[in-house]
Amino acid sequence: MNKISLSGHVAVITGASRGLGRQMAEALAASGAAVALVARNKALLDEVAAGIREKGGAAEPIVADVTDEPAAAEVVQTVTESLGGCDILINNAGINNRKSIEDFTLEEWNEILAVNLTGPFLMSRAFVPGMKEKGWGRIVNMTSIMSHVSLPNRTGYSTTKAGLLGFTRSLALELAAHDITVNGISPGPFATEMNKPLIQDPEKNRQFLERLPLGRWGKVEEIGRLAVYLCSEDAGFITGADIVIDGGWTAQ
Ligand SMILES: NC(=O)c1ccc[n+]([C@@H]2O[C@H](COP(=O)([O-])OP(=O)(O)OC[C@H]3O[C@@H](n4cnc5c(N)ncnc54)[C@H](OP(=O)(O)O)[C@@H]3O)[C@@H](O)[C@H]2O)c1
Repeated sequence: MNKISLSGHVAVITGASRGLGRQMAEALAASGAAVALVARNKALLDEVAAGIREKGGAAEPIVADVTDEPAAAEVVQTVTESLGGCDILINNAGINNRKSIEDFTLEEWNEILAVNLTGPFLMSRAFVPGMKEKGWGRIVNMTSIMSHVSLPNRTGYSTTKAGLLGFTRSLALELAAHDITVNGISPGPFATEMNKPLIQDPEKNRQFLERLPLGRWGKVEEIGRLAVYLCSEDAGFITGADIVIDGGWTAQ
């Protein structure tokens, strides 16, 4: 079987300290990309970087908050100095907040918008000039099945994820002439920290499994392989798309 090679590419993955971001970083590194790992938890980032280096990969942990405007430029500078110019950006950092509208405070609303929407805007804006200069790039945004459908108590999350899908489509059109593709990955339920409150609640866990045609939570490795493909030369004709990986959730 042909293994996809991302050798010679430099990728920045936000939210790489755990969950889907960590998995995608490890998968891209295993395919030969040098990876910059962005999140706020230094200890976890160091652990992920060490694991990648142990396997012969190149990894740079960078502590940054994606909502911080000056931090985006600093990330660009650190990545360029340590690994070279970045040509792959995965906007994965995200938060959820499952609350009724009456319980949502304005502070919480602004926080979810800042992390899930403003973060990808700031990071993309910072990295696009380098990609344009190179005349090649890949941006992958972690959207969600909640970009397409929803559930009760997801106003904040669904709003940001639907917004991120719109952002993805418009940016794809804007950057197409530069051979920079911009796509979304819309995961269904995956067993990560974000979904612990659902998995650990037997009733909620049962409801999710019953609703999933494939009858199981997604495995994080399944996201890694999709991200590698979307970042590869093979996916060069895919842009402005959103790839749903949801065990059949949205087919119903
Ligand atoms: N898991 C799912 O079922 C699922 C389904 C659909 C979509 N998604 C999307 O996929 C992405 C990853 O989800 P996940 O399940 O892996 O979540 P997770 O386990 O909760 O991980 C979230 C990551 O984002 C980082 N992060 C959060 N706020 C940040 C900030 N302000 N600045 C920088 N990094 C920040 C966290 O690191 P620090 O705390 O160290 O900063 C962590 O690495 C999210 O965008 C999520 O919405 C997930």
